[in-house]
Amino acid sequence: MRKLHLKAKTGECDILIGEPIGSIQEYMGNAQAVIITDKNVRKLHGDMFPAVPVIEIGTGEGAKTLETAQMIYKKLAELGMDRTGVIIGIGGGLACDVAGFAAATYMRGVKLILVPTTLLACADAAIGGKNGVNLAGYKNLVGTIRQPETVICDFELLKTLPREEIASGFAEVIKTACIADATLFTYLEENLLQAMNLKKSVIEKVMHDSIAVKAGIVEKDESEKNERMKLNFGHTVGHSIENTLGLRHGEAVAIGMMVAAGISQKRGLASRKDCDRLQALIEKAGLPARLPGKSKENLGKIKDALSKDKKKRGSAIRMALMNGIGKARVEEVQISEIEGVLDDLC
Ligand SMILES: NC(=O)c1ccc[n+]([C@@H]2O[C@H](COP(=O)([O-])OP(=O)(O)OC[C@H]3O[C@@H](n4cnc5c(N)ncnc54)[C@H](O)[C@@H]3O)[C@@H](O)[C@H]2O)c1
Ligand SMILES: [Zn+2]
Repeated sequence: MRKLHLKAKTGECDILIGEPIGSIQEYMGNAQAVIITDKNVRKLHGDMFPAVPVIEIGTGEGAKTLETAQMIYKKLAELGMDRTGVIIGIGGGLACDVAGFAAATYMRGVKLILVPTTLLACADAAIGGKNGVNLAGYKNLVGTIRQPETVICDFELLKTLPREEIASGFAEVIKTACIADATLFTYLEENLLQAMNLKKSVIEKVMHDSIAVKAGIVEKDESEKNERMKLNFGHTVGHSIENTLGLRHGEAVAIGMMVAAGISQKRGLASRKDCDRLQALIEKAGLPARLPGKSKENLGKIKDALSKDKKKRGSAIRMALMNGIGKARVEEVQISEIEGVLDDLC
């Protein structure tokens, strides 16, 4: 087991990497505890949960709503939870986000323990304190930033995930290495498949190093003013691709990273070799490095989504670029420049 400690304005968090879910009792102490989980995770892993009441939520983005939060508040009240209680969120990013939102708002905030059960949730969603629900068709429109007390990453729980879900989560790990940790990037080049097979020593090392980067960035810039924007590497274009082509998040981010790498190369920030290494690692994970199919229609839709990006300012957008392998910088990029590289990636 490896341990990290994140200290930010909205709280301090212990992140336990490779800790079995069975030890959760130690961290909840004598407080009244309630589990929030989704129905799939409960079915697969419920026998390992501590013996406390469970509130089950649905799956899919349609379950990440204020109605779900309201259902949770009512059940917590019925169970008599007061301000000294602790919510335990067990599940993927969705359950973590909803549990985090409920914990931040019920009685103005109760303690939160997260047990992420997808690779994306271990690498990203459970780390950094962001939570929220969707509203009126907007993702994460309502939410807060508040650190959980404890995050327990038990990689045994991830063994029930389909391979594509693991690969998709690894896009975030590759991203993190690419923007901030050249040593981790090299380690991934050599050990990616063992990590994806969840080999204990390898996955613990990789996730420790990857989470350490995110935690470090969050400590410096919790509310995403500048430093935290680097974590959006691959996401500006990735989100447009995810929304229009319906790819998994990590698959879309993988293509988005190749677009950002292409722009970085054109600006002299990355070499051809850097881009080739990134592409090779993405492909090794079984993720796409190029847009699937050649349909001009798809490209048009992506460009359209990009031009409607809410972070756009005039004809430009602030975007995370790579600055060689292991470093990043945020620069203003013209939408036309992004479109040019997208054309090349078709
Ligand atoms: N708060 C943040 O900083 C942050 C960052 C990234 C993403 N997110 C959020 O995370 C969500 C996506 O998370 P996700 O990709 O983990 O998806 P998810 O939580 O929707 O889980 C995907 C599917 O996997 C199932 N599942 C979960 N754990 C499993 C396991 N161990 N074995 C088998 N199946 C399992 C779930 O039931 C679900 O059907 C989005 O809502 C996104 O907004 C939040
Ligand atoms: Zn992401």
